[in-house]
Amino acid sequence: MKNNCSKWLYNPLLTFILALFFLPESLQAQEAKRWYDATTVYQIYPLSFKDSDGDGTGDIPGIISKLDYLKTLGIETLWLSPVYSSPWQDHGYDISGYTTIHPRMGNMDDFDRLIQEARKRNMRIVMDLVMNHTSEQHPWFQAAIKDKPGGPFRNMYVWKEGKKRPNNWKSMTSGNGWHYHKEAKAWYWASFLPFQPDLNYHNPAVKDSLFGVMDFWIQRGVSGFRLDIFNCLAEDSLFRNNPPSLRPIPSEGNPDGFFQKVTYTQNTEKTLEIAREFRAHLDSVSQGEAFSVGEVFGSGELLQKYTAQGQGLHSVFFFKTMHAGFKPHKWKKIIRENDLNFPYPQQPTWVLSNHDKKRFISRLKNKESKMRCVVFMQFTLRGIPFIYQGEELGMRQQKLNPKFGQDPIVKKFGVAATRFARISGESLNRDECRTPFSWNSEKNAGFSTSDSPWLSPAKEAGNIHAEKQLNDPNSLFHFYRKLLSMRKSLSELNSGKMDSLRLKNKILSYRRYSDQSSMYCYINFARKSRRIKEKTAEGKVIFGNIETDAKGRNKIPGRSSVILWVRP
Ligand code: GLC
Repeated sequence: MKNNCSKWLYNPLLTFILALFFLPESLQAQEAKRWYDATTVYQIYPLSFKDSDGDGTGDIPGIISKLDYLKTLGIETLWLSPVYSSPWQDHGYDISGYTTIHPRMGNMDDFDRLIQEARKRNMRIVMDLVMNHTSEQHPWFQAAIKDKPGGPFRNMYVWKEGKKRPNNWKSMTSGNGWHYHKEAKAWYWASFLPFQPDLNYHNPAVKDSLFGVMDFWIQRGVSGFRLDIFNCLAEDSLFRNNPPSLRPIPSEGNPDGFFQKVTYTQNTEKTLEIAREFRAHLDSVSQGEAFSVGEVFGSGELLQKYTAQGQGLHSVFFFKTMHAGFKPHKWKKIIRENDLNFPYPQQPTWVLSNHDKKRFISRLKNKESKMRCVVFMQFTLRGIPFIYQGEELGMRQQKLNPKFGQDPIVKKFGVAATRFARISGESLNRDECRTPFSWNSEKNAGFSTSDSPWLSPAKEAGNIHAEKQLNDPNSLFHFYRKLLSMRKSLSELNSGKMDSLRLKNKILSYRRYSDQSSMYCYINFARKSRRIKEKTAEGKVIFGNIETDAKGRNKIPGRSSVILWVRP
């Protein structure tokens, strides 16, 4: 294989034309795909995306003004973090009105316009649905306080009468999850923070109400839901104590922690049953068109129960990827596990960060070459990639003083958050990954004209911003764009099968294939060029570069990725 040959083949437009020319049967032969099988989801954190009215916070008209940017990137599914009415104690994850829009975000006309403008561009909107809890200011909870024990409103939430704390259950955020309400003269349960009382899923009226919310948004034109802490939906109706555990801190892969197992508070049989009912309802109200992804935590085996072989949620996040760093053996293990746990027609998810977690590039010490390798995997593996806003620019995690934190988690932990971050490398200050999107080098990185945006822009915003990267064909933005366009046009990548997962000589490789052809994907994790010996090296390079040395041996440059296209 010659270098110049690989160069002219390394061109997405040409690749697309080639693919259409050579692979017509392969494209036609695909089973009728569901739109969400081949999609990439882009997470918008509206508060920090684009402010249209200069009040210092992002809003829906701001999102509309940037749809063309997202279209240029190649995105067609947008997940919106909450835009509902809310006292905003947890930035919208504390809902006080499920079918109204927070005035800071705009109004329902703006929302309808967003749906229309998205449609014009063949884009879809996925809403964030917080089913587990409401805000304490939600009219249901306010009525529950005043209601008598066992009354219809009281019964919407998880209450227990009596003087003593009902049992040993701890909240996900540590500490006692039971809170005594003086006016109600009873304890209410909150899986997350005290101002987010849990709804009672043993009461069928709660499920019906939330399914009604889902109907409302589907009828308004949304294409699905991201389901917030779905794992916490239904607690044990007998209120049994959680068993002890030796684990001090829960993790994404194992939610036991704070020295107890979460047997009776998370992932209960009742919650899994609701996942199946949710799916049946969603399918019926959307004629099988809408999509769901659940935020759940646990082992791969547990997570797959939520999708119930296609009878439950369409997909669930698999967060282990966030902690794989740049370690090829970890990636290999995760790829195998994710692929096995979610066999077709189920879809694994590939997620690197979100509005709660450290920005992924900063886990790689802000090394863009490493980030490119990981992103390459994200887009060439079987499954649904998720991009958190700004990831496509390499936006970084910020170090912020917890004293001025706006996030309720950092407010809860105060200075302990800094100590935790030092020891664990993780952040308890979620403001640090939520700084405004960097659009350009103007005031507030083009995010807002306000003199006091809700968070200051990232400190590198003058250098890392969308305008600059749009103009640079070698930027990270264009790297994402190329991958997105290849994934969209090549059926092997968007719906083919996967096998031949290998790690050899620091090169991780796998094959994506259809009946017509194979795509061999290689990622060289080493700093230097490494040889590939397989005879698949006879393929055509359609992504990345292969170097040929003086002895005619094929090598993949250090920290880079390649796709070889082979027809049988
Ligand atoms: C989820 C959200 C997070 C929120 C929490 C409580 O983990 O991603 O932002 O604080 O649930 O709703």
